Amino acid sequence: RADDGYRLWLKYDELPEAGLRKAWQAQARGIVVEGNATPTLQTAAHELQLGLQGLLGRPVPVGAVPGGKGSIRLRVAPDPALGREGYRITSQKNGLEITGPTDAAVLYGCFALLRQAQTGQLPDKLSLSSQPRIQYRLLNHWDNPNGTVERGYAGSSIWKWLELPERLDPRYQDYARANASIGINGVVLNNVNASARYLTAEYLQKVAALAGVMRPYGIRVYLSVFWAAPKVIGGLPTSDPLDPKVAQWWKVKTDEIYKTIPDFGGFLVKANSEGEPGPQDYGRNHADGANMLATALGSHDGVVMWRAFVYKANSKGDRFKEAFEEFQPLDGKFSPKVLVQVKNGPIDFQSREPFHPLFGAMPRTPLVLEVQLTQEYLGFATHLVYLGPLIKECLEADTHSQGPGSTVAKVVDGTLEKHSVSGIAGVANIGSDRNWTGHLVGQANWYAYGRLAWDHTLSSAAIAEEWTKMTLTRESQALASLLPVLNQSRDIYVRYTTPLGLHHIMGQSIHYGPEPWLEKSARPDWTSVYYHKADAEGLGFDRTARGSNALSLYAPGARQVWSNPATCPPDYLLWFHHVGWGQQLSTGRTLWDELTTRYYTGADSVLWMQRQWEQAKPAVDPELHADVAARLRIQHREALWWRDACVLYFQTYAKRPIPPTLTPPT
Ligand code: GCU
Repeated sequence: RADDGYRLWLKYDELPEAGLRKAWQAQARGIVVEGNATPTLQTAAHELQLGLQGLLGRPVPVGAVPGGKGSIRLRVAPDPALGREGYRITSQKNGLEITGPTDAAVLYGCFALLRQAQTGQLPDKLSLSSQPRIQYRLLNHWDNPNGTVERGYAGSSIWKWLELPERLDPRYQDYARANASIGINGVVLNNVNASARYLTAEYLQKVAALAGVMRPYGIRVYLSVFWAAPKVIGGLPTSDPLDPKVAQWWKVKTDEIYKTIPDFGGFLVKANSEGEPGPQDYGRNHADGANMLATALGSHDGVVMWRAFVYKANSKGDRFKEAFEEFQPLDGKFSPKVLVQVKNGPIDFQSREPFHPLFGAMPRTPLVLEVQLTQEYLGFATHLVYLGPLIKECLEADTHSQGPGSTVAKVVDGTLEKHSVSGIAGVANIGSDRNWTGHLVGQANWYAYGRLAWDHTLSSAAIAEEWTKMTLTRESQALASLLPVLNQSRDIYVRYTTPLGLHHIMGQSIHYGPEPWLEKSARPDWTSVYYHKADAEGLGFDRTARGSNALSLYAPGARQVWSNPATCPPDYLLWFHHVGWGQQLSTGRTLWDELTTRYYTGADSVLWMQRQWEQAKPAVDPELHADVAARLRIQHREALWWRDACVLYFQTYAKRPIPPTLTPPT
């Protein structure tokens, strides 16, 4: 049967190896729920049953097993070593046991057990335990009430607002199942450029209906709020956070929300950024706004996630520094219910960015790391780019804020600065396309995000292997062809689009394809020339003390890595330095030769990706294989587009020939 990609990594096709199947069959003759069968425990049992029946090709009843042997027992049991959501899988005399301190923990354990079978592990002597390192593991949907998705490339929104609350699309449950299987425990349903409509009584009923589908899967719903809601739907003359009537309006609204959705997660706020209203409209700051919402939440179990993605039209400044300058002085001023949500890099989800300088610089504020799964600047749903390496690169970056080893991961999981709350957010790449993400490998990005949110110490390559085995094939030769493609895809994309630390030179507004020549836009910081600064001498944004001095925002240890152009890793060079075209780099080539080499070899590497993909053909479902193969053909065409546009444009400044080795005579 051809595969349309709908089932994601939760395929549960019968295990092809008879021995493996037999071994699991002996361990999985039935499923027993012990104690109070809460909806989440019932869901856990049902999911385990569904998975095992598929994988083993025979019924696996829920209920006592005659003779007792070979049952899988699910049990909630206190276990201080596991936190709230950690699970333990052990082999007991009569069979496997999945335990955890909460029913959601047991659910995670069931999916972990299924993953063992799906990836071809034997069930013998299983002894596994795992607990999440980050507490709030969220997807952020940038979905609008009219069904469009901002920066979405996989169709329209999966939320059918007009049909809710009466009709629940079966897809909602499949979505919840997929998220629970990777440990995601919260979803922000709507765009950060928010409509006030979500806070109306009419929409809260719809949100409540979705919350009802998510709840058994351990997932809470959150809303992005429009700052001016008290004016727009509340009839007040102002949205000033320090106006008592405004504060009261939010308090009443919040109580109404919790009456409708008792386990509501909280608010996400984009304020005073890109034209959105916010507390600064009234001379207040971000902390004033966030704390007012925190007060409105009162004793409800919810949080405020206040975004630090802010910048203003300012031709003289450096956008790199703006969020830092606005937020760092507010460290220590936020209420305990507030987390500040920071994008991985200081500009905007570019293909490679240095880590955001706020990480490590706000020790008294829990910071949520926001990464983007939808490929706004990474080729939409057309280019194969596995984002595991990008996310890991940020998590492993060393802020040096408390000496070496002060990684972004340790800031985010709260261990470095001893916070009791922690969070991570991924901007979803999910839409109404049959395969959810448009590009099949977009599924790997959703998967990798969840796995890293759960445990950021997992390697990106190990996650790629897990995903590929669960989604495409476990055949070893095919894996040997496919895995290098996933693992190298992000670097290849960087090479043919923005090598050596170039950034923000893509097509205006649409954010697709090259447009390095863009000089005029509504704002200077929306042009390309603002970022690449090409001139007759060289290329790159000088962020040293001679230039914008953005480097000074980093702790000395981190700054040192980048501050000297002779020792700055080439991947970050043009982020921080204006480098002469003829300057020799650590790679042995001049800047011009290195730049052109990367554009050319990057584009050629897409042909290599195509060949590798082709080699795996016999082992991969034909429909999935053909779909990705076709997208790889588009990707090559567009890699050439990027290469030629950028090389020819920069050549007008560099006035140097393309190295002859790169352009064999035709
Ligand atoms: C980018 C993106 C916008 C989005 C914004 C944000 O600028 O292009 O569409 O709204 O990020 O993260 O708020």
